Amino acid sequence: MKNVIELNHPLITHKLAILRDKKTSTKEFRELVSEIAMFVCYEAMHDAKLESVEIETPIKKFKTKKIDQDKYAFVPILRAGMGMLDGVITVIPNAKIGHVGMYRDEKTFKPVNYFFKVPKDIEKREVIILDPMLATGGSAIDAIELLKSKGVKKIKFLCIIAAPEGLKLVTEKHPDVKIYCGCIDKHLNKDKYIVPGLGDAGDRIYGTK
Ligand code: PRP
Ligand code: URA
Repeated sequence: MKNVIELNHPLITHKLAILRDKKTSTKEFRELVSEIAMFVCYEAMHDAKLESVEIETPIKKFKTKKIDQDKYAFVPILRAGMGMLDGVITVIPNAKIGHVGMYRDEKTFKPVNYFFKVPKDIEKREVIILDPMLATGGSAIDAIELLKSKGVKKIKFLCIIAAPEGLKLVTEKHPDVKIYCGCIDKHLNKDKYIVPGLGDAGDRIYGTK
């Protein structure tokens, strides 16, 4: 699928196998979400713009390049997206952080937005949205729309597991947004859960069920 980048790497497959396992503890689940998020973010930064800098090594002055970390903002979708934050912050420590609060209505499966707070200069930044699960795609579509309504021009969406149905909808609705995911799973079940998936990411991160 155009604009969808799936990390096809043995380390991700290995970590996902532990993450998906229903016997995995809350502690280990949290650690893995953060670690996988770090790898997905690393991949998503492959096209980061570099600027020239001069530094001095212990040996000599040296012209090299650095990323301008002040150009980025992470926006986790609450609750589960918060689980990815520690990992991605290790990749871009100076990024600012916004929050979108969203839950899926249990009957309609439609997202309900309950919180939205982003840095003042958000429209000047590249925004990287975080949510471990992209299922129907409803939450992703609404979060992207909220950010576009604030004038944001460049958006990437990072997730850990995505369903083909949701990817199709999000890429049709927002063809300018690149989606980076650890793995594209098989399909959604009748309750709109990803199969095989990992269950409810928020509940597993916070131990709420
Ligand atoms: C989960 C997940 C996404 C959403 C994905 O959140 O973290 O935000 O569902 O589903 P969609 O693609 O069909 O919209 P949930 O509603 O369970 O809220 P939570 O993170 O607070 O647990
Ligand atoms: N949200 C989750 O946490 N898991 C799914 O499989 C679908 C939506």
